[in-house]
Amino acid sequence: MSVIGYFNGQWVDPAEPCVPLDERGHQFGDGVYEVIRAYGGRPFLLEWHVERLFQSLEALRITPPFDPDGCKALIRKLLERSGESEAAIYIQVTRGSAVRNHLFPEPSVVANVSATVRPVPPTSPEVKPGRLLLLPDERWLNPWIKSLNLLPNVMAKQTAHDAGADEALLVRDGCMIEAASSNVWFVQNGELITAPADRYILAGITRRFVLELARDLGIPVREEKLPRERLAEVDAIFLTGTLTEVYPIGSVAEHPDIPCTPVSAARPAARTVTPEQVQVVWTARDLELVERLRTAFVERVRAWVGSFA
Ligand code: PDD
Repeated sequence: MSVIGYFNGQWVDPAEPCVPLDERGHQFGDGVYEVIRAYGGRPFLLEWHVERLFQSLEALRITPPFDPDGCKALIRKLLERSGESEAAIYIQVTRGSAVRNHLFPEPSVVANVSATVRPVPPTSPEVKPGRLLLLPDERWLNPWIKSLNLLPNVMAKQTAHDAGADEALLVRDGCMIEAASSNVWFVQNGELITAPADRYILAGITRRFVLELARDLGIPVREEKLPRERLAEVDAIFLTGTLTEVYPIGSVAEHPDIPCTPVSAARPAARTVTPEQVQVVWTARDLELVERLRTAFVERVRAWVGSFA
């Protein structure tokens, strides 16, 4: 089991310093990233990941040092070098290294590309349903861009963890639109509901895959924002993400002093939330459809890996 690192054409030890202090990713979070899952030694849904990476780069007006084919070749090379078959490939592209200044550097400054490949455990056949904590979505107005600026996501995920939950369920304008590092789906009367891929959420690659899967299985999907008040009507909830895959949720909790809607104008107090302070406001009624989707997801991946044998 090894972890490999890469920085601008060099193989590096991810634990050793190598990025200049005058690096815009380091100083401003001025860059974008992708996380790609490898199954059976091949990067899954690579086309879609690279397509999204280029959309994020374009949105931030960063010129990458490769074209999409060059990017795919690099990702394959990273995975081959690692020798891992079940792995998470992390790749980030920043605006480059230049003396700190909010303005973009000279056009001669080239983007920095760094990457790691880490082994991940194979998909487990059984997954214990997780818990979500409702929290206000404090992100900026462009979460559709997969930028390095993840501070609100980091804070929300940590608060959820402190409260004994596995993920944060983010509420914006009264609706439960996304989780801190995954997309959220609700099941109601045999129908799936997930927020539309507008500017306020990241259009997950796994979300896109599960949309196709649901269509193939004949499960109806509504791409709509679900108001917080309608949580009680929901039969089941699950999350999707590159490393999360299809993850069933057993309960949702809420902290009485952290209102999600409306968001208070008062500066929030710095606090550490404890599991004793939160109240469970929803429990899963029927996870059968989620299990069906999870099984179908695992089977699709297995068939995809098998297609190369
Ligand atoms: N997170 N929403 C957010 C905010 C995310 O950070 C992620 C992924 C997703 C799911 O997207 P995808 O299916 O493309 O992985 C949704 C990655 C894995 C991360 O930051 O580690």
